[in-house]
Amino acid sequence: MYQTPFSLKQVLTQPRMTPLQPVTWSSLGPHQQAWIKRDDLNHPLIQGNKWHKLRHNILAAQQAGFAGLLTFGGAYSNHIAATAAAAAACNMKSVGIIRGDELAQHQAWSTTLIHAAQLGMAFKFVSRQQYRCRHDADWLAQLQSQYPDYYCIPEGGSNALAVSAMRDVIQQINQQCPDWTHLLCAVGTGATLAGLAKAAPEKQIWGIASLKQADYLMPQIAAWIGQQQTNWQLLSQAGKVAFHGGGYGKTTPDIIATQQLFEQAHQLQLDPIYTAKLIHAFDTLLQQACFPEYSKIILYHSGGLQGRAAGSN
Ligand SMILES: Cc1ncc(COP(=O)(O)O)c(C=O)c1O
Repeated sequence: MYQTPFSLKQVLTQPRMTPLQPVTWSSLGPHQQAWIKRDDLNHPLIQGNKWHKLRHNILAAQQAGFAGLLTFGGAYSNHIAATAAAAAACNMKSVGIIRGDELAQHQAWSTTLIHAAQLGMAFKFVSRQQYRCRHDADWLAQLQSQYPDYYCIPEGGSNALAVSAMRDVIQQINQQCPDWTHLLCAVGTGATLAGLAKAAPEKQIWGIASLKQADYLMPQIAAWIGQQQTNWQLLSQAGKVAFHGGGYGKTTPDIIATQQLFEQAHQLQLDPIYTAKLIHAFDTLLQQACFPEYSKIILYHSGGLQGRAAGSN
């Protein structure tokens, strides 16, 4: 099995303080300030929000005596990549339930799957139709009986433990910049947005949807945060500009151009699926004067850089 050149166990007990890097961006107003929270630097393989979302789940799995982790994802999934690495580093087994039975042919594997397999993850490939049942209690019970010593983590690592783990990120930002006003994060399932909003009830947390027609996520996000809290929004567009760039895994020339400018200006990398869309939305919202004059805005870099290497679009 591929040997990981790091010790996750140590990192699991203590979140690493990542930099809050100042953002220089011409669309900012004269009294507005912005920073990017560099959680892409928290771990080379278990990056960004994935590190936080997995941490409490792995501790729960270990405490309950499970020998492995079982989870769900697509061929390019950051969560599959991170779970494979985390399990390997914790001497646990891992199984990925992967969308697309055509992937049973080894030649069709993405680099995400190849690396996850090198880290020891075993795969069960299922049809797209079967994969739609990933939240279905009967199928989950069936999988649990097939893999009795595996702790089951939902797609994207998104569950109540993941939501509560995002509190660590807010605590760090509060230390680094106590009077911040807004935070923008990318949204897939909404668990990251929910955790950040729940932990910062006095601030505005805006989620940028990476997928089309993301409104169906709102009841689940509201349930995670608590119905009484209203300090969050799920944004999918400003004016005529759609933030999802055509849908999950799709992009536009505008998003790519903004991504490249931002990367050059700040000497960092963004991923095409989530954080490039986040930065493009930030720029659009500034241009449309959506932030008050003295806003102090945090952009949450949630990692996902393996998606660049994996060749996902
Ligand atoms: C890099 C990256 N950023 C953001 C997200 C969105 O997180 P969530 O699913 O919690 O909304 C994901 C989701 O998987 C991700 O991989």
